[in-house]
Amino acid sequence: REGWNVRKPYVFLTRKMPDGIVSMLEKECVVSMWEKEETPPPVSRLEEEIQKADAVFCNVSDNINKSLIEKAEHLKVIATMAVGYNNIDIKAAEKKNIRVAHTPGVLSETTADLTFTLLMATARRVPEGMDVIKNNEWGAWAPFFLTGQDIHHARLGIIGMGRIGELVAKRGTGFDMDIVYHNRSRKPEMEKAIGARFMEMDELLETSDYICVQTPYTEETHHLINKQAFQKMKRNAIFVNTSRGPIVDEDALYEALNNGEIQGAGLDVFENEPIRADHPLLSLPNVTALPHIGSASKNTRWKMAEMTANHILQGIRGEEIDHEVKR
Ligand code: DGY
Repeated sequence: REGWNVRKPYVFLTRKMPDGIVSMLEKECVVSMWEKEETPPPVSRLEEEIQKADAVFCNVSDNINKSLIEKAEHLKVIATMAVGYNNIDIKAAEKKNIRVAHTPGVLSETTADLTFTLLMATARRVPEGMDVIKNNEWGAWAPFFLTGQDIHHARLGIIGMGRIGELVAKRGTGFDMDIVYHNRSRKPEMEKAIGARFMEMDELLETSDYICVQTPYTEETHHLINKQAFQKMKRNAIFVNTSRGPIVDEDALYEALNNGEIQGAGLDVFENEPIRADHPLLSLPNVTALPHIGSASKNTRWKMAEMTANHILQGIRGEEIDHEVKR
């Protein structure tokens, strides 16, 4: 009776997933799933599950910290349905020999699309225009009514030239933008292909019309964009963040917007998510705010979920994981 008492690996999914994803996992595992899509499980449930799980399927809003990881007894893999993994204590996982996987690449084009959506919507005052119509405030056509600023031929400054940064730059070429970037290392091939120029941080901040931050969130990038950075920006600068909220000092951003030091901001991420409606930033007309939907196209989210399920299967089989976080 071969395999008679072989225990099937136990996987915990921190959010409700479509049947297709669950059945991928059920072929080889026992699946336990938090049945809500928009609310995370309470810490007590996470603690209880992580203790027995061989694998955890999580996402950006789960705080997989040291104390949680230390509770694990069999855990082999933590797979997050995201490219960013700042919500997972990698060192604590490494200490317990737990592998961590993420989903780079698959969401880059979609996230670059949303970066551009925010850039354009803020530049051309799309949310204000919608409000005018919804509030029945549209009078006659007026010569300088809701005038925004041009995107074409303006300077686009990209901070962090990784996969998403490059695709944002590529989109900028379609608008004949002058593209400059700052990154830890130069990217000569990308410079040639896209025509982007490397710039020191200060010059980029001082001369760009649009500033998009596309770096991962780490200790080094915490509040990278702070009061001093906003003070260096042009008064017409539009700041766009689709990376992680804490890369920006939100109090400083509020001050810069409120005092007219910069023109506007397009934000998909916030220091504390979900941001609440009474947050001061949301009272400003020159802020376009979205609820962390950078990668949220149907296709991309499906691919991310599939990739994450696959990482789990690879991890529990002890195989190489396609996108394991390098330590
Ligand atoms: C990511 O992948 O890191 C995004 O923030 C979630 O889609």
